[in-house]
Amino acid sequence: MNTNEKLVIKGGKKLKGEVNIHGSKNAAVALVAAALLVEGKVVIENLPEITDVQILLNVIGELGGKVEHLRHDTVSIDCTIVNSGKAENYDLSKIRASYYLVGALLGRKRHAEVIFPGGCNFGVRPVDQHKKGFEALGAQFDTTGGYISAKTRKLTGAQVYFDKISVGATINVMLAAVLAEGMTNIENAAREPHIVDVANFLNMMGADIKGAGTSVIRIRGVEKLTGGKTYSVVPDMIEAGTFMIAAAVTKGTITVKNIIPEHMESLTVKLKETGAVSIIEGDDHITVKGIKRPKAVLVQTMEYPGFPTDLQPQMVSLLSIAEGQGTVVEGVWDNRFQYIEQLHQMGADIRVEGRTALISGVSKLIGAPIRAMDLRAAASLIIAGLAAEGTTTVYNLEYLDRGYEGFVKKLAELGADIKRVQV
Ligand code: UD1
Repeated sequence: MNTNEKLVIKGGKKLKGEVNIHGSKNAAVALVAAALLVEGKVVIENLPEITDVQILLNVIGELGGKVEHLRHDTVSIDCTIVNSGKAENYDLSKIRASYYLVGALLGRKRHAEVIFPGGCNFGVRPVDQHKKGFEALGAQFDTTGGYISAKTRKLTGAQVYFDKISVGATINVMLAAVLAEGMTNIENAAREPHIVDVANFLNMMGADIKGAGTSVIRIRGVEKLTGGKTYSVVPDMIEAGTFMIAAAVTKGTITVKNIIPEHMESLTVKLKETGAVSIIEGDDHITVKGIKRPKAVLVQTMEYPGFPTDLQPQMVSLLSIAEGQGTVVEGVWDNRFQYIEQLHQMGADIRVEGRTALISGVSKLIGAPIRAMDLRAAASLIIAGLAAEGTTTVYNLEYLDRGYEGFVKKLAELGADIKRVQV
């Protein structure tokens, strides 16, 4: 992470070529935490080289685990010994996924104390559903003093019904429940591909989880998880979607490779609806060809398999140059439109009313100096810069580095005129 860098983009280039998609950020951060549950060595492949993952790997090392980088995208993690349930590395306060250490340490050590998670600022980010799940398993849960802590003498399987569909709470309760005594049923569970990925990983290590990917997950607690296996992280549907939208915005042709096309369904359907692209799907790749200016559409973000909130900012960039008035309704987060004031600097005409953005398409965006506000907003502003006339300078790149490996290099290889330079 280098906070002294900025991006300089000269817009107007059509992106062309193939791009390899890395492993899913949101799966990877949970898998690295899940390794704490395994009394042995696991090898994780297709792990993205991003800050969030690196912070968690550092913490695993501090807790007594042995972390070895075998290749740039492969690590071996051996948590035969976990010395402590307390994770106090202050970097954990910068990322959201630090909360997975709570579920994993509670499962493994029966007590967890983890610096309160940070991550992107989308308004209030409560942890009441995590609390509900851990308490159902018999733990005491507390969020005072800058830490999330959970402890118990005995974890017991339970019925957990989530009042709100939550990716984080679903994975966290799953992590704690695999080593609980008896059966846990999670109802109203989130269904994202990364939830299935975490369940597959845990099952490979000896857990007994059924139903991941549906709204009811059943976990039969086991005594221990053993390692000796290699697991490959599911492709990142958000990175893939970001490049697909970049193809549409620049009227280029991009093949996103190493993906699971079904995971992209809500985006492919929406992109086709704009009339801006032709899309060809293969077994593990999708080619998006930008053919004309998009027509405005309605996008409503929601839980998987709905349109992902993590592609909302990128879609707003596309709609900002569409023909007509588009509408984007943010169905997951209270406050995920803060980056729009940066798009205004580039000439976008967008009005935000609560969780709805009304986007009157302009014929072109104009390059400007802008500031990334969060991870996905960083990507969306870069996409806007690729489409804009003139030069766009993007500051605050540390957000980008949290979730996209080699984003700038990949764009440059696709023909973008983009450079990372010292501020
Ligand atoms: C994860 C993703 C994030 C994505 C989000 C929704 C990771 C590391 N991050 O975040 O990129 O935008 O899913 O797909 O995987 N909520 C509660 N109580 C809780 C937990 C959540 O009310 O205890 C609410 C949140 O405020 C939000 C909604 O539920 O409105 C969804 O949140 P959740 O799915 O938990 O998101 P995260 O796991 O934090």
